[in-house]
Amino acid sequence: MHYSLQLNRCLFLLLFLEGSKQKKRQTDFVATNSTNNTMLASQPTNSTSSNSETLSLEQLYQDILEARKKIGPLIHHTPMVKSDTFSKMTESTVYLKEENLQKTGSFKARGALNACANLSEEQRQRGVICASSGNHAQGVAYSAHRLGISATVLMPKVTPIAKINATKGYHANVVIHGEVFDEALAKAVEVSKQENAPIFISPFNDRYVIAGQGTIGLEIMEDVPDADILVIPVGGGGLSCGIACAAKKMNPKLKVYGVEAESCPSMLQSLDQGFITGPTNISTICDGISVKRPGTITFPLAQQLLDGVVTVDDFEVSKVRLI
Ligand SMILES: Cc1ncc(COP(=O)(O)O)c(C=O)c1O
Repeated sequence: MHYSLQLNRCLFLLLFLEGSKQKKRQTDFVATNSTNNTMLASQPTNSTSSNSETLSLEQLYQDILEARKKIGPLIHHTPMVKSDTFSKMTESTVYLKEENLQKTGSFKARGALNACANLSEEQRQRGVICASSGNHAQGVAYSAHRLGISATVLMPKVTPIAKINATKGYHANVVIHGEVFDEALAKAVEVSKQENAPIFISPFNDRYVIAGQGTIGLEIMEDVPDADILVIPVGGGGLSCGIACAAKKMNPKLKVYGVEAESCPSMLQSLDQGFITGPTNISTICDGISVKRPGTITFPLAQQLLDGVVTVDDFEVSKVRLI
């Protein structure tokens, strides 16, 4: 199915154009207590924020404003760049938010910095731990180093050597563990539960990480205030929920659509079913967004904030990469 855009302004964070599925949802900017009762994720004792808490939109918005004060001096306000090519293809005006120019090369530095900045002195002494085969690893390593905190990053054996070296380059203690990401993650969570262990930083299911990513929404709306649609890639949902919260507060009429890989539509399936679920087997070239389940914090936020989710297959993604 073609996702046709009849718009004045449309913002793409990642270049997915033709979606195969679209699901409309109701969205109100109200402080809502979600009744989500499907807490599937493991709950590390020592994480930056409890990963089963319910976060109201108003609280998240306040967290985003606080995050900007804390991390603003340490990150770039990245540009919104008009894309002639995508504007022509969609008969609308398309801007790209160039987070590839962010510190460490991705938006992940925002959330990780905010998580580190919210640690207590006692937690800072213990250091932080995470699992990642990519952007989150570098975000945590960079952030911890900037704030004088030690970082341990567990990476699965499949991690490309360039990403291992980049993470080491930010002074993290890199431990190669497990065949795949899930094994590295399980180990990081296990370690974080021990006494005086480093504090676990989730890639998306963490109040401060979501708020850090939400600072992107403030920048988008300041730079292109008449935007009427945001299109945002969805993995675990931290990026999209953070941005949507900030941007919808500034313009309640704004629509926000998530984009997932067709073979890994975990947020789409969860929103459809009304509880956290997702595919068992995933295989996609979109490694950054291949997350099997949305988070216990992000899912209820997504229920309130996302107007729909579209999926794209790997062939469509490959075509866009050639543009
Ligand atoms: C490039 C890129 N885009 C989008 C995402 C999705 O972010 P989230 O997991 O917060 O939904 C990721 C996650 O790692 C990513 O690396």
